[in-house]
Amino acid sequence: LASIEVDVSSLQPGMSLTAKWRGKPVFIRNRTPEEVKAADEVPLSDLKDPIARNENLPAEAQATGIDRSAGKDKENWIVMIGSCTHLGCVPLGQAGEYNGWFCPCHGSVYDTAGRIRKGPAPTNLPIPTYSFVSDTMIKIG
Ligand code: FES
Repeated sequence: LASIEVDVSSLQPGMSLTAKWRGKPVFIRNRTPEEVKAADEVPLSDLKDPIARNENLPAEAQATGIDRSAGKDKENWIVMIGSCTHLGCVPLGQAGEYNGWFCPCHGSVYDTAGRIRKGPAPTNLPIPTYSFVSDTMIKIG
């Protein structure tokens, strides 16, 4: 399927689901205000990969909290390909030192914006093309 639509109406803040798109897991999370704040407070200079890796933005966009999220008024939402950028294992959610994602294969640690912070993975978890087609429905692809 080229694109899918995912109903996110059941996701309260702090809840996630994993969709499947083009054979890959896609993590969709309604982040808590604390998670959003934690991501926003990180200086770009602390990031191993300062690029947003967000297909919805220009290629050079920086990995700020908001540019890793669904954007203005939807910064609580994050949508990412759930495949570790090291060797492709599926990271565990709300785990690891930054309470973001943790890859159990070789210990890559991602923060609450899915940005690589420690371990062997070279880049942030990629953000696919997506949009909200309504307040509760996300189209991926
Ligand atoms: Fe995730 Fe190696 S595949 S750390």
